[in-house]
Parts: sequence; C-alpha cells; structure tokens
Amino acid sequence: MRVALAAAWLLAAAPLAAQTGSGDGPSLYAAHCTRCHDGGSPRVPSRTTIAQLTPERVVVALETGTMHTQGASLSDAERRAIAVFVTGRPLGSLAPPATAPRCEDAGASFAVRPSPPSWNGWGAGPANNRYQPVVSAGLTAAQIPALQVKWAFGFAGDLMAAGQPAVVGGRVFIGSTSGRIFALSLRTGCAYWTFDADTMVRTAISVGDATGRPLAYFGDVRATVYAVDASTGALVWKRRVDEHPAARITGAPTLHAGHLYVPVSSTEEASAANPNYECCTFRGSVVALDAATGSVAWKVYTIPDPPKPTRTNRLGAQLYGPSGAAVWSSPTIDGTVGVLYVATGDSYSDPAASASDAILALDLRTGEVKWSQQITKNDSWNLGCVGSDRANCPEANGPDYDFGSSPMLIALPKGGRALVVGQKSGFVHALDPDHAGRMLWSTRVGKGGVLGGIEWGTATDGAVVYAGVSDASFKEGGGLNPAIGGGLAAVRLNDGKVVWKTAAPGCGDRAKCSPAQSAAVTAMPGVVFSGSVDGHMRAYDAASGRIVWDVDTARDFETVNGVRAHGGSIDFAGPTVVDGVLLLTSGYGLMGGMTGNILIAFTPNGK
Ligand code: HEC
Repeated sequence: MRVALAAAWLLAAAPLAAQTGSGDGPSLYAAHCTRCHDGGSPRVPSRTTIAQLTPERVVVALETGTMHTQGASLSDAERRAIAVFVTGRPLGSLAPPATAPRCEDAGASFAVRPSPPSWNGWGAGPANNRYQPVVSAGLTAAQIPALQVKWAFGFAGDLMAAGQPAVVGGRVFIGSTSGRIFALSLRTGCAYWTFDADTMVRTAISVGDATGRPLAYFGDVRATVYAVDASTGALVWKRRVDEHPAARITGAPTLHAGHLYVPVSSTEEASAANPNYECCTFRGSVVALDAATGSVAWKVYTIPDPPKPTRTNRLGAQLYGPSGAAVWSSPTIDGTVGVLYVATGDSYSDPAASASDAILALDLRTGEVKWSQQITKNDSWNLGCVGSDRANCPEANGPDYDFGSSPMLIALPKGGRALVVGQKSGFVHALDPDHAGRMLWSTRVGKGGVLGGIEWGTATDGAVVYAGVSDASFKEGGGLNPAIGGGLAAVRLNDGKVVWKTAAPGCGDRAKCSPAQSAAVTAMPGVVFSGSVDGHMRAYDAASGRIVWDVDTARDFETVNGVRAHGGSIDFAGPTVVDGVLLLTSGYGLMGGMTGNILIAFTPNGK
C-alpha cells in the first residue's frame, strides 16, 4: 500500500517545507504534465479537473497510481511540488481513507449461500446482461418513482468515486480510489470490514465460495488481483498478472467454477503522447487464476506475438508493434459450452493488430482462441495523435473505436443466440456465437468518437437491448460541451430495429457538464436505469423510453460515516438494484466532468 497511502498521511503530518515539496511546481508541471493535461485532449483529464483532486491524490497517482510511469522520473519532493501547484492547495488536507461505523454484528460469519438476492461482479451473472429480475431486485416498476435516499456513504479524501457496488449475502462490496475496499451493510451502510489494496481499485467485486470459504475478488490499476476473506477482509492471496509498467485492471474479474478470469488493459496509449516514449509494447490479455490459490492456469494475449521493433520516430525513439488490443471489460462466460468471450480495444501502434476492436472467443479450459471477429480494421491510435507533437501517432491514425463494454450473451426470442455489444463507434452489434461470430446485425445509435458511442455497457431484458450513448464533445478551447451528447436507445434483439430513442434532457447552465450517458446501463422488468455525466440518474419506462424518475446526485449528502461528501458526474459504473435497494456511485469526473465521492442507497420513500 500502503507505501502510497501511508506516505500521504505522513506528509500530512510533516512540517511545512515538506508539505509544499521542493522544486519549482510551475516549471516542473510545464516540463512533465502540460503536454497531456493542457492540450484539451479527450481521454485526458484537464488541468482544471486535476485541480479538483486533493494534492495527496495527485502524489499517489504519480507514485503508484495511473500516472506512475509519468511520475517515475521525478523525486518525492518534485512530485509533491507538482501536486501542490496543480491543486493550488498545501498537502495536509487529506483525511485518511473513509472509515465507517462498525456493524453491531460485524463478528458474524458471512455466507454466500443460502442468501438473499445478489448482484455479483460486474454484469449480474456470467452472461453480463446487467438485468435483475423482480425477485432479486425486490422492487417493481411501480415503486421506482418513489425512490429516495436511504443512506449515503462518503469516500473521505478521495474526491472521485469510480466503483460499481456488488451486493452478496446482504453486504455491499466496493473499492475506491484510495485503494480501500469496504464491506458494508446493504440496510444501513455500517461496515463489516475494510481492506487496503496497494492502489486504486475501480473494478467491481466478485464473491464466491468455490474454495470452501467465501472470498471477494478484485483487481487494481497496477494489474494486481486480490482475494480477501469475505467474512473478515483478511488477505488470502494477491498476484500481479502483467509485468508491463502501464498494465492495469479496469474490468471486473469473472468467477466461474473455481477459476477467476481476469481482463488486462493499460494506460500505454497515454504514455505515447510523450514523443520520446518508445511506443508501444503492451498487449491485452486474459488471465485464468485458480480461485483458491491465485496460481496462473493460463494467460492468453489478444496479440499472440510480442511486439517487434518497427521504425524510429522523428526524435529517434524506437517504435514497436503490433500492440494494444486491451481488454477493458469483464469477460462473459458460457459454462455450458466452455467458452469465454471478451471485447478488445484499439491498436496503439503500427502495424494494426487483427485482434483489436474485436470480439474473441476463448476456450475456458485452455485459453485457446476459438474464433476472433474484428469489427473495425486498421484502428491504430494513441494520445500522440492529439495535440501538437504527433511523433508517435501511427500512420493509420484510426478512429479509436475501442470496445469498453462486455459482450452480453443472449438467447434470442426467435431462436438461436447472440452476443450483443456496444462500441465507441456508436453501433450496437449482434454476433452469432455459434457460428464463429458471424454478424447478425449492426445498428447505429450514436455518432461515435474518442469519447463517443457506447462506452461502458449495455443491458438487456432478453427482448430489447438498452444502450446509453456518450458522444461527449469538447468546446473549442477545452471543457465539455454542455449541448452535445447523450441519449438512451432501445434496440430489438431479433432484428436490430430501433424501438425508441430518448434524447438527453440537457445540462441547463450547470458548469463542467456534458449530457453524455457513458456509464453502463442497468435493467429490471419494465425499467431501465441510465446515469449521466450531468450528475443525474434517470429511470426510463422500458416500453416507451419515457423518463419516470430523475435524481440529481451532484450535491452534498449527509453520510452515515460522517464524511463531508458530494456527488458529481456519473460515468463508468452503472447502478445495481438488489433486494429493494438501488445503489450507485457518483463523482467520476476525470474526463472533464464533476468529481465527487459518494455511494448512495435509494429505497421506496427512503424507508
Ligand atoms: C503522456 C500523457 C500524460 C502525461 C505526460 C501526464 N499525464 Fe496524467 N493522465 C493522463 C491520462 C490519459 C490520464 C487518464 C488515465 C485514465 O484513463 O484513468 C491521466 C490521469 C491523471 C490523473 C488522475 C489520476 C487518477 O487518480 O486517476 C492525475 C492526478 C494526473 N494525471 C496527473 C498528472 C501529473 C501531475 C502529470 C505530470 C507529472 C501527468 N499527469 C502527466 C495522461 C498524462
């Protein structure tokens, strides 16, 4: 961790000289950060966004977090100086990561089964349909308009909430940007335990008892996977699954029959913005781990061979390829035929890989690739393609049409099956998993782009697929465009016809606002939930697309743990609905939206 968080707390107690760091913040920032963060580049948080974070968070990001490759060449004092400068605040404002009132029955042991209803992992089941039947939701469509806050929980010192809550056995399992994992009571938000991972955890958490005792599984942004005891929070094992310095885990590991299937992605696309960076050597992969011990059963790269040297760029930096094809989202599993499906991101360098922007079917037992269906060819792109110095931009300079969503495995109403997945191109695709991924239909619901189309996930009730559209756009001179983006579309599974499309209500005059609906969507009978970068969570009538409930989360909330906390943009994670409670996190503001640090539980009339 602790190294990182402990370091931040020590700093808080240190004398003033240490609190400001030595060296010249402005010039260090200009030399090491401006290139990416002041370029108005999409997919990079702007300087004003970073300024909303605490200086400690910036230090941690540079030491062990998302920016550790950028921070590696700096001294401790320099990292601090930059953090103080960019946030405009001295170190010492960080409260330790949130603690919560301990549950009275915190000593009670925990069982996965028999248990009340659950939302386990990312997609509410290995098919990743993000659909909750009424018996598990514990809510009917008629009750949705009456939803009110029951309790809220603040992530202290975080100023950014990115996780999706999982609920198993009456407990809420959630990670946080500080790296602290919480097991909370679904009813009251009291804490059973906390666990400190080495760095930020944004994956959803999967819980299972295949090993004889219930364990909770998740991954961090440095590609380390953890298994902790779900009763006590004690570490059982942890394993780094990729040695590349930019590797990370964003998609939730999927648990199935004694194995944990882990998707691996990276931030190397951003490293490439540095013209001296030798772009690029990361390859996406899926790793199968023994759920009991963490030992590796197999690891399969989306790109079979290691990248080879290609040419040197204008500055003489050696370039490598093919690279990329990261796996951003949770694998989908069909246990009956023993196949695992993943969707991949773009290529980072020339030559483009044949497995980027693709759907891959892997043998569950061996990892062998059974088929691969590339949807967008020749899509090599990295952040070197944005801004003034394009030394590392691949020749293809593709559209950056990653898949960030998990494929959903569905039995079609008319017979046969489909794998359905949304893409940043703005299309929803249906492929036939039983005929090597043959395309069944492809329907456009958004414009598409670097922060466009469908970003993090769709939901289905078995007849219709519901897709939130991001299409986030930036104003000239930077900042999110409050007038462009968003919308929710319903597409019929049998033939890909659009049933309805509801435009985003719009931002009004709210600052740092985009109507983008990039967060994953969630469905239950008669209702679809879709959050927005504008801070609202909305429920839609599944038949008509009419908005039946709308709550603005970008405000302060009273919290059960006494932390001053507020909501902001909703992005990435979708809401989960379990046993009469709708749960969501708010405050993922990295892409120019509103930061916040809250987990909120809604129940009918707040009862
Ligand atoms: C090569 C481009 C690049 C450079 C140089 C760079 N950054 Fe970043 N930074 C990014 C990208 C891209 C992200 C968003 C990553 C993601 O998707 O989470 C980011 C995210 C961040 C975040 C949010 C971290 C979090 O907790 O998720 C902070 C803070 C940050 N950068 C600070 C800095 C500072 C300070 C510097 C200079 C020392 C710097 N960055 C240099 C590209 C860059």
